[in-house]
Amino acid sequence: KNPLPIPPVKNKITTYTNTTTGISIDYYEVTISEFEQQIYPGKKPAKLIGYDGISPGPTFMMEKGREAVVRFINKGKRESAIHLHGSYSRAPFDGWAEDTIKVGEYKDYYYPNGQSARTLWYHDHAEHITAQNAYFGQAGFYILHDPAEDALGLPNGKYDVPLGLSAKQYNSDGTLFDPISETTSLYGDVIHVNGQPWPYLTVEPRKYRFRLLDASISRTFQLYLEAVTSKKKVSFQVIASDAGLISKPITTDNLYISMAERWEIVVDFSAYKGQSIDMRNSRDVGADEDYNSSDKVMRFNVLNSAPVSTANNGAPPSPLRTVPFPPPKTKSDRNFKFERTNGEWRINGVAFADVQNRILAKPQRGALEVWTLENSSGGWSHPIHVHLVDFRVISRTSGKRGVQTYEAEALKDVVWLGPNEKVTVLAQYAPWDGVYMFHCHNLIHEDHDMMAAFNVTSLSN
Ligand code: C2O
Ligand code: CU
Repeated sequence: KNPLPIPPVKNKITTYTNTTTGISIDYYEVTISEFEQQIYPGKKPAKLIGYDGISPGPTFMMEKGREAVVRFINKGKRESAIHLHGSYSRAPFDGWAEDTIKVGEYKDYYYPNGQSARTLWYHDHAEHITAQNAYFGQAGFYILHDPAEDALGLPNGKYDVPLGLSAKQYNSDGTLFDPISETTSLYGDVIHVNGQPWPYLTVEPRKYRFRLLDASISRTFQLYLEAVTSKKKVSFQVIASDAGLISKPITTDNLYISMAERWEIVVDFSAYKGQSIDMRNSRDVGADEDYNSSDKVMRFNVLNSAPVSTANNGAPPSPLRTVPFPPPKTKSDRNFKFERTNGEWRINGVAFADVQNRILAKPQRGALEVWTLENSSGGWSHPIHVHLVDFRVISRTSGKRGVQTYEAEALKDVVWLGPNEKVTVLAQYAPWDGVYMFHCHNLIHEDHDMMAAFNVTSLSN
């Protein structure tokens, strides 16, 4: 019954120009603050804490080559650290989990915006409370555009829609269940898109670009589209992922998306005038718990009229771009086991809290490395995020799935390590020196210390 909310676009406050270099930096301010959201009619509202008092937070619309400073002012209830997920930020601005903004303080984050067009997101990363902070609202979209992508004629403007998925659980009085005492996972029985449970979007009978993000703390989805009356699956094209456009559009009728992953799709509604199409989630995905309606995501109601605009309504070009894949390499350089030992989540036996031992790798700056990521914890899912770099998924073995077709064409910064899977990823450890985190993006696992660090260094080791 409720329409899909579209987060407002964030406006800059001012632009500073260095008169010597001529370089301009756009300046923004975001306030972390409490707000209420009425989810269940006639019950108490949920109390949330979001960026600018909304969740998802405002969407940043950025241009490649235009640097930004964003001041995050913490007027919430807990400490925060802000990570711009998908950005090769310098280490001091990467949201290091211990580098928190106390309540009443602020921090200015510098974002280079030098990468190719992509869908990033900003979210909390404070040590041991990331799951709680993200779940209570601290997450938002940050979209980077560039001229090469703009020239492709993909659906844009109101036909380019961010869809941030999340799964939550409510108390019987209508307030939000607090996952703080969870130590394994909080799958959530209520599926939200852009903060609204099971919303609808009215669409014109034409093509749309959807930027999917799984902002859930623990739930992975296998999404598909289904025409409501005929129950027939509707296929769509995958065009982009974490690091922007993939090589070529891949047509599919289902898509895996795990926590923190971004997949962008083009859906053509032109053959469905006057009909409704549901976005649904498959049952039995990974190790997730299913509930009555966790197989429903949202609905598209297609207008029974001509499209208002037929601009940017052609088929996505193929190829989409020459993806800057790292040169081929298969020999593994490092091996990381994602484990559960004595009820604790660990990487190669190490916890993030183990300050002396938590730097597990020292790649030389510019080095090309293959990392083997191994799910040694049995039946759990671990979406693994490596900060700083874009990687290519080289192999996926031991589990039930291989590398998905769309995954093979993509550069990514998170890879879903499904139950029992072993995945290899190839990346160049650049462009900066610095100590960065890598971790499981099941935020409960992350908070319970399935996180470690690597130190990119210009020294040989
Ligand atoms: Cu999306 Cu280290 O996080
Ligand atoms: Cu995990």
